[in-house]
Amino acid sequence: MNEIKFYSGENIPLEMHKVRIVQKLYLPPVEERLKLINEAGNNAYLLNNRNIYMDMLTDSGVNAMSDNQQAAMLRADDAYAGSETFVRLEAKVLELFGMDYFLPAHQGRACENIISNTLVNLGDVIPMNYHFTTTKSHIEKAGGRVEEVVIKEGLNPKSDYPFKGNFDIEYLRKVIKEVGREHIPFVRVEVGTNLIGGQPISLANMREVRKVCDEFGIMLMMDASLLQDNLYFIKEREEECKNMSIREITMEIANLMDMLYFSARKLGFARGGGICLRDKNIANKMSEFVTLYEGFLTYGGMSVREMEAMTIGLEETMDEEIINQGPKFIEYMVNELVKKGIPVVTPAGGLGCHLDANLFIPQVPQQEYPSAALSVALYIAGGIRGMERGTLSEDRNEDGSEHFSKMELLRLAMPRRVFTLSQVKYAIDRIVWLYENRELIGGLRFVYEPKILRFFLGRLEPTSDWQTKLAEKFRQDFGDSL
Ligand code: F0G
Repeated sequence: MNEIKFYSGENIPLEMHKVRIVQKLYLPPVEERLKLINEAGNNAYLLNNRNIYMDMLTDSGVNAMSDNQQAAMLRADDAYAGSETFVRLEAKVLELFGMDYFLPAHQGRACENIISNTLVNLGDVIPMNYHFTTTKSHIEKAGGRVEEVVIKEGLNPKSDYPFKGNFDIEYLRKVIKEVGREHIPFVRVEVGTNLIGGQPISLANMREVRKVCDEFGIMLMMDASLLQDNLYFIKEREEECKNMSIREITMEIANLMDMLYFSARKLGFARGGGICLRDKNIANKMSEFVTLYEGFLTYGGMSVREMEAMTIGLEETMDEEIINQGPKFIEYMVNELVKKGIPVVTPAGGLGCHLDANLFIPQVPQQEYPSAALSVALYIAGGIRGMERGTLSEDRNEDGSEHFSKMELLRLAMPRRVFTLSQVKYAIDRIVWLYENRELIGGLRFVYEPKILRFFLGRLEPTSDWQTKLAEKFRQDFGDSL
């Protein structure tokens, strides 16, 4: 990749795009932010976007589209069956991944629903480097169980290990032997491992996983939702891939898989999803669920406009100068926070910057949801919305006890090409202020707690008046600034 150096020696990421459509933002004053977050049940999901200055909740479905994507959307062919738009999308997906069948679905979790309905039976176990929330729920709903086999380093927030999403190969073997291959319909590889900080898995490690699957005769499936970032990291960090194109690396990875699925809200800069596979019988079985849950086989719940955008977005994903924007901005943010002594997950991964809530606010115990408390505090401090990725994102155990998360993270996602560097600097500034005032932050407790995926719709309240004190301190320190 061509590095552009500054004469001044300053080391900042330089955008290889220009902005031609803008959206006006609003930053409510701190007193209003305090009121708004409480009206939203102290759950950032329940805030209205108009009251958010920087929406770092997710990069899902909120990445900026390119001029070519917008142009393609105009030629969408609207047909219930046999749309030309789908033909184009299918051809692109099969070209990039070299598989035989492509089934469309309206987003990533819809793929997981179809996969679990088709392949997971009562008592089955799905080994994977790490779970994702919706993946786990679908597997459990089908009567199965998730077994996580990520390397130890993956759960160490402070590290310089380049591929923290790697499988512990010996542990994977052990799990398969203990469970028995007949109860393991497939092994799932999650590239750009979301819940441990968007951390990549190496090509070499995926090859090892493939070997184990071959040894036991088990299918290998990739959740490719975060493939974009993982491709970048493989090229940057894996010696044997330095001279390979992104397209070649993509094919090399796909060749190891029997199946893959993705959320096109992430992969492909659009909205939608799909499953790719080689086995005709499984494809036929899954097709029935596509038509039952999603729509006809040539749209699967997606609008034709989004499918056109996805076709172009997938092709653009093969361009290193396009996919490096996210990781470079994230790296900048992570490195600046590290310099200020703020606990963040290192090394910088994909998806976003992840604050380690256990270290940020050690005074808040896990039963009072430190990652969620930090998310509320950051909204009060700066109108910035992040996503809780800790105990609140885990549903309770069968007996009603809390399932404490292995990591307590506040994820600040970096939607691609959406924020400028000065906005990223603003986020860093407010995080630094919050860190210096961290002793003011307290915990949260539920007032309404759904049973499944409680983090989406749950409502909480502060365990004391800590939020008011935090807002008062902000006013004191910042004067009349918003
Ligand atoms: N798999 C992974 C690895 C994901 O990150 C996501 C979504 C899904 C599956 C489900 O896809 O949202 O299209 O149904 N991740 C989003 C996020 C929600 O914000 O990280 P979906």
